[in-house]
Amino acid sequence: MADILTQLLSLATAGSMLVSGALMTAAPHNDESGLLFLQNRQWRVSRYYAPVTIKADVPGQLQDMRADAAAALEEMFAACREETGVTLKAVSGYRSYQRQSTIYQNKLDKVGTRERADQYVARPGASEHQLGLAMDVGQKSDDVNLTSSFGRTKGGKWVAENCWRFGFILRYQEGWEDVTGYEYEPWHVRYVGKENAQRIHEANMPLETYLLLLREETLMWILTGEEMSE
Ligand code: DAL
Ligand code: ZN
Repeated sequence: MADILTQLLSLATAGSMLVSGALMTAAPHNDESGLLFLQNRQWRVSRYYAPVTIKADVPGQLQDMRADAAAALEEMFAACREETGVTLKAVSGYRSYQRQSTIYQNKLDKVGTRERADQYVARPGASEHQLGLAMDVGQKSDDVNLTSSFGRTKGGKWVAENCWRFGFILRYQEGWEDVTGYEYEPWHVRYVGKENAQRIHEANMPLETYLLLLREETLMWILTGEEMSE
């Protein structure tokens, strides 16, 4: 009896180690510098998190991003100009915790309630801009920038259809509000690297959903050694 108990216990321990290993592998929120790090209302970074950034060599303002994201942004802007003739511009890249705090407070002053402000602006610690991986993209004539109209422009449509080729995803799409927690933002792109971006683009789902599926798939693979069916 004791032997069986010992065996069961060791099996349970091995099982839980496998499961926690799987979750570690598939839970990008363990590493805030990871390309798939999930940053949203639930998963936040501390006020002290500040990546090393550089200024992307693109038109506009507030062009700071992580170097990998900045290089991809330069490539994307050049391709857009070549393929459509539209000059995109940077509107807002890296934002410190403090800067996000000011932006949130300004929105709150404007709309009056936290409930409404939360639909548009992330609270400090919850913005992908603090990761140095997000850019708000606009175009030269800026009357439509940071509005849903940007999504109807030639440049906005091109960004939506093509940003994955350069390693970006359009993070807050129409119809995804219940999952992402934010209103449609045709201007906000998030760098995840080319391979991830292609997969997420093909899956056509919010990052939250994609990461859940990825976690299930990893668990399945670790527990059974089998890939999930298509
Ligand atoms: N507007 C997006 C959600 C942000 O503040 O990061
Ligand atoms: Zn943004």
